[in-house]
Order: sequence, then C-alpha cells, then structure tokens
Amino acid sequence: MSKVIISPSILSADFANLQRDVEIVERAGADWLHVDVMDGHFVPNISIGIPVVKSLKKVTKIPLDVHLMIENPMKYIPAFIDAGADIVTVHYEACVGNLKDIISYVRSKNCKIGVSIKPATNPNVLCDYLKLIDLVLVMTVEPGFGGQKFMPDAAKKVEYIRSLAPEGLIIQVDGGINAQTGKICKDYGANSLVAGNYIYKSDDIANAISSLR
Ligand code: DX5
Ligand code: ZN
Repeated sequence: MSKVIISPSILSADFANLQRDVEIVERAGADWLHVDVMDGHFVPNISIGIPVVKSLKKVTKIPLDVHLMIENPMKYIPAFIDAGADIVTVHYEACVGNLKDIISYVRSKNCKIGVSIKPATNPNVLCDYLKLIDLVLVMTVEPGFGGQKFMPDAAKKVEYIRSLAPEGLIIQVDGGINAQTGKICKDYGANSLVAGNYIYKSDDIANAISSLR
C-alpha cells in the first residue's frame, strides 16, 4: 500500500489562531489539511465556509481537503473550488439524484472528488461511483462534531469497499481516529486518516502525526 495520507482536521484548531495552527501541522508533516464545512441542516452544527478556505489557501501550500457536510452541495461547490479547495468531498446522503453531475463537474475543474457515507449508510450505494471518483470517506462517527468516540462497525465498511475498489482509490476515515483506531482502519485498507482532537490536543503534534502513519 502506498503512503498513508494524514489530514489533520482544523475543526480542533484555535480559530483565532488558524494560520499558526495550520503552520504547526504543516511543519509537523501533515500531507493535507482537512476543512470541515457544516451548514446546520445536514448536520446539527455550523462551522466555517468559503472565506476561510480562501484565506487558508494564502497561508499554506498543502492541499485543502474540504469535507462538505451540507445540503445541496452543488450550489456551493464552484465557490469552494474558486476559493482553493484541492479535494472536495460531498456526502452521498446529500446528493441523491445529482451525484454523477457533481462528480463530472468537480473533475472538469481539475479538482479531486470524494464521496462520504455516514455510519448507517450501506457501502453498496457507492458501487456505481467507485470508478468515477478519487476518494471515499467512511465516517467513523456521526458527522457534526469533533472529539466523538470511534465506531468500529462503521470502520469495518472500509474492508468491503477496498475489496471492490479500483487501483488508486483513496479510502479515508474520519471520526475518533488515533494511533490505535487508525491502525484498525489501515488494516482494513484505509490509506488516508483524518484526525482532529488526537493531533491538536497532543503535546507533541509531530509525534502524533507520525504515530498515525
Ligand atoms: C466530524 C468531522 C471530523 C472531526 C474529527 O463531523 O467530519 O473531521 O473534526 O474530529 P476527531 O478526530 O476529533 O474525531
Ligand atoms: Zn471531516
């Protein structure tokens, strides 16, 4: 398996010191930066949006991995791409009826496209799309908040998706990831780990990142 992509979630950073906190994980070896966008409808929480992506783009060179936990994502995707998103991940549950159009649009903009499933969503819904996308994001908590407990049954879906996946598909996990739960996911075939609290609440961020690899 190729290198594991570590994507620290800035949801656990200090938003009053975002540039500082981004530079800290960049220096500590992060591969991507995970940006959690929440609209208060698709998930019961509100976080950050397009202007923050635009500002982040000016202060970091690492790819911006934008996780859209929003309803009607197509309405906002062009603006997120213009703002500098390098990977756009939408939720399958928010795209019923227009997922193929979203995939084509994002790819036409030379941006990577990811599709995420919530813990209760059957992985078979992804079968028709696996050849068309760059990344699958398997949520290992209910999306909406950082610092929740890892759900082992949700992680197990990674093994099944990997068995169906074309060569090169990135399988990412998000929610309750630390060195131990990250290892479980990698053993199932995940090759990208998102972590918020585990990285940002650590006293030694570089060590936390390398422990995930
Ligand atoms: C949850 C978000 C996650 C969150 C992960 O809805 O998608 O990216 O920040 O936080 P931890 O790693 O603390 O569970
Ligand atoms: Zn996320």
